[in-house]
Amino acid sequence: MNWGQFVVQWLHVGLGVLWFGTVLYNATILIPAISRLPLGEQRRVGSLIGEQGFKVIRPVAGAVILLGLIRGTLFGPIKSLDMLTSAYGITWLVGLAFAIGAYVWAERMVGPALARMNAIPEAEALGPDGAPTPALESAVGVVKRNAVLELGFFAVIFTCMILMRFGL
Ligand code: HEM
Repeated sequence: MNWGQFVVQWLHVGLGVLWFGTVLYNATILIPAISRLPLGEQRRVGSLIGEQGFKVIRPVAGAVILLGLIRGTLFGPIKSLDMLTSAYGITWLVGLAFAIGAYVWAERMVGPALARMNAIPEAEALGPDGAPTPALESAVGVVKRNAVLELGFFAVIFTCMILMRFGL
């Protein structure tokens, strides 16, 4: 039993579950549930959840990627550049690329969409009748769409993780 490998894999899988699970939960439960609230409340709740989410997931995602690098190299078969062209090496690289992609997507597409939604002044968010303005509707829609689309990255990452288990 290689205890170093055990600890790295334990942390990698545990933190990976937290990262992937958060995105999965957002798309399947949180966003559909929040969508039943009036739009003004969706913005308030969404902005608090987004703020907390970024605070927690930023370091978690960084750690998952770092641990994945260590698991594949120091505690895995990728000991030379040649190994990167093996089936395992390619799968590992694809997993790495999509994990970085998921991180960048959240930073570039989800975070700024949340900021744009929050930047709409109260007076421009709700009309005189208290109904949400098209500007608010569209901003909230973009946040939800971008958060759900992040799942696409995880479909690939998860497949890579399982393939590597079988040496591919
Ligand atoms: C959200 C991102 C990720 C999640 C949820 C995740 C999840 C997992 C899981 C569940 C396993 C265990 C698979 C098994 O034993 O059946 C695993 C293994 C592994 N992961 Fe990740 N992972 C993620 C990102 C990454 C990244 C970015 C890399 C590379 C830099 C990576 C490299 C590895 C390696 C090398 C293994 C060991 C595969 C083996 O030889 O059995 N992972 N990961």
